Parts: sequence; C-alpha cells; structure tokens
Amino acid sequence: MNDGVLIIGAGYVGMSHALGFAKNCEVKVLDIDQEKVNKINDGDLLINEHHHDSSQNLILNVEATTDRTVILEEYKYVLICLPTDLNDESGDLETTIISDYIKYIIDATKSYIIIKSTVPIGYTQSQIDEYGSGRILFSPEFLREDNSYPDIQNPSRIIYGSDSTFGKEYHQLVEEIIQKKEVEVLFMSPSEAEAVKLFSNTYLAMRVAFFNELDNFAITKNLSSKKIIQGVSSDPRVGMYYNNPSFGYGGYCLPKDTKQLSELFKEKKIPNNLISSIDSSNQSRMNFISKHIAEKGISKIGIYRINMKKDSSNYRNSAIITILKDLLELNYEVFIYEPLIVEKIFFGCKVIGNIDEFKNKSQLIITNRFDKKISDVENKVYSRDIFGKD
Ligand SMILES: NC(=O)c1ccc[n+]([C@@H]2O[C@H](COP(=O)([O-])OP(=O)(O)OC[C@H]3O[C@@H](n4cnc5c(N)ncnc54)[C@H](O)[C@@H]3O)[C@@H](O)[C@H]2O)c1
Repeated sequence: MNDGVLIIGAGYVGMSHALGFAKNCEVKVLDIDQEKVNKINDGDLLINEHHHDSSQNLILNVEATTDRTVILEEYKYVLICLPTDLNDESGDLETTIISDYIKYIIDATKSYIIIKSTVPIGYTQSQIDEYGSGRILFSPEFLREDNSYPDIQNPSRIIYGSDSTFGKEYHQLVEEIIQKKEVEVLFMSPSEAEAVKLFSNTYLAMRVAFFNELDNFAITKNLSSKKIIQGVSSDPRVGMYYNNPSFGYGGYCLPKDTKQLSELFKEKKIPNNLISSIDSSNQSRMNFISKHIAEKGISKIGIYRINMKKDSSNYRNSAIITILKDLLELNYEVFIYEPLIVEKIFFGCKVIGNIDEFKNKSQLIITNRFDKKISDVENKVYSRDIFGKD
C-alpha cells in the first residue's frame, strides 16, 4: 500500500487538501478534466487566492491524472471531493459518481475512503451497510471558496462521521495541515456528521435571509438598515458578523444544501415551517431588489461583477444573475463588467472588458459587493453592501 493520499476531484475542496497534504506526503489527484490535470502537472495547483504564494507549487509533490486505474496504486487514503449537484427531479444531492468510485475502491483495494463531498443524510451509512465495510468515513468540509486554503489550515471544527477507528489515524495526517492551536475535533455517526453539514449551511442561509428581510423592511419604510442592524447585532447573542445585506445568498453550497435539507424534512413529513421557507425568502429578496432597481427608472444598467463575493473565482448560482434576468424581462438595457467571462455576450447582454467604457456607458451600476475600483463613480452605484464584508 502507498502511504500517500489520492484525491478524487480537483475543485476547491480537493485542491486545497492537495496543497495541504503535499507538504508531508505524496499526493495524486484524479479528475476527468484534462485541462485541469495539465495545469496541475505544470505546477499550478489552481489555488488563486492572495493568501497562497504560487511559487510554493513547484516544490510540492502533486501529480494529476485522468486515468481512474490510478486507484489500483492503492493509496492509503482516498479523499472523495466530487461535485454533488442537486437533482431537480428528486430534490436530492446527486451521489451516483461517488457510489461508482466507492464500489471500485472497495472491490479493488484496501484503501480507506474519506468522503468530503456534501451528501444527503444517511448516504454514508447506506454505503457502509452495502459493503459491510469499516473503510468509509464522512468528514464534512466547511471551507469558503474565496478562502479555501487558509480555511483548511484554520478550521472552525473538524468532524468525523464513522463508527470505525481509522478516523483517529487519518486525523494525525490532518493535524499536520492545521495551523490553529486548538481545534475542536468531534467524532459522531456518519448520519450525524452529514446532518451537521446540512444544518450548518441552512443556518447560514437563514441568517442571510433574515438580514435581507430586515433590509427589505427598512427600504420600504425608509429607515436606515445600517442603524437597525447595528442595534440588533450589538446583542452578543446575535453578534456583529454575517449580517451584511446582499442581493440574496448564492454560490455552490448554500442554495443546494438548504434545498436538500428541506427535501429531507418533506420526505418524512417532519414538522417544520422555517427551513422550508428559507429558499422562497431568498427568491423574494432577489425579486424585491430587481423591483427596487427598476423603480429608479434608469434605462442603461451596468452590472459590476457577477461573482458572489469579491474574491470568488466563479459565479455559480450568483444572486445577481437572477436580478440580471429580471431586468432583461423588464426590457432594460444591461451591460456586464466581469473579468471571469471570456465571451462577449452573456445571457444576451454585452460584456464590456474595458472598465472605463463600462463606467461611461452605465447610467446605474449595480453590484452585490462594493469595490474601490468603482469608487470614482460611487454616485451611480446601487448596492446593499452596508458593512463591506461577508
Ligand atoms: N466549494 C465549496 O466552498 C465547498 C465547501 C464545502 C463542501 N463542498 C462540497 O464539496 C464537494 C466538491 O465541491 P467543490 O466546490 O470542490 O467542487 P468543484 O466543482 O470545484 O470540483 C469538482 C471537481 O470534480 C471533477 N469531477 C467531476 N466529475 C468527476 C468524475 N466523474 N471523476 C473525477 N473527477 C470528476 C470536476 O472536473 C471538478 O474538477 C461538493 O459536494 C460540495 O458541495 C464545497
């Protein structure tokens, strides 16, 4: 058996772990995306955050491949960091590719499997039962996309969902990545660990929705959101954090995890009103913002950045895209400034690459998060970013 780590899925979760583990052991990455694999083999670990010095990459021992028979090299630990998108028909997170890999690994090797992907509650136990194997563990990941590598070095907590003992041994490897002195480590059943992940993200979505509804109220009543939020958040039970209004929550995880949890309540008819209403609160917020912008009666609207957060390198499920679609339906002329988009047209809107041209053409500039690059045209900026964070 090879003492190293095989990581399946070279995304945010997979590559931040690759970078962390590679300082202490051999790391191999398996991904279906040939372009990503080539980049990794050229020394680019795809971690573009300002926190990471890319010159470190070259001295790290990370290789990537698209060939799934790499699994037969029998790495001691295999981390599953694959996408689990929401299946719109079933309402469940899609786990088929994960199950296929687990079957292959269990049948062909003695490797231990650590599932880092977010999965439905009960999924890991169903795999353990299917193979009668103590070689499968679920460990939820809480990193943020715009801060993935620092987050895995300084985790808020570490959770292992497993009834077998190999979690403690695997944790010794994880400890070598961690910079923080004291991190709570919790062991629980796989289903409890899966529940921690879904309830955590649902709580965060609910908190965003709460402060956005407060902001809807303040706008409508012509009151200061800032003053109300400061007053409310000064109570330490509420806290002055994660309370900055936005156009709505988005990104890869909060929308799908909240919908998945709501679906699990629905399946078993478990009483709830709050959890099932978070998604519709978020939808209403986006439509409220579109209406508020439309009321300004300005016809040429520029959208400054469509990513969710300032440092995000993607725009998956970004709330501003819903607003863009609403404005197009209302026949507004909309332009976009977004360096992440290479195409010239996005959702039927012109993408303007030159920031000065964008500023000149836009009579109103809307942005989810304020950026000093548009501070010279602040008088035409529309945002609900009050505190400049989160
Ligand atoms: N992004 C986050 O902030 C975050 C945080 C915590 C947990 N998670 C969870 O972790 C999982 C991974 O998320 P991510 O953001 O890293 O995903 P990602 O989309 O960034 O990366 C997934 C990678 O898997 C690869 N892939 C897809 N199908 C494959 C296959 N059949 N074989 C091999 N590789 C394949 C893709 O090419 C991609 O490189 C998801 O379940 C997500 O919900 C994500």
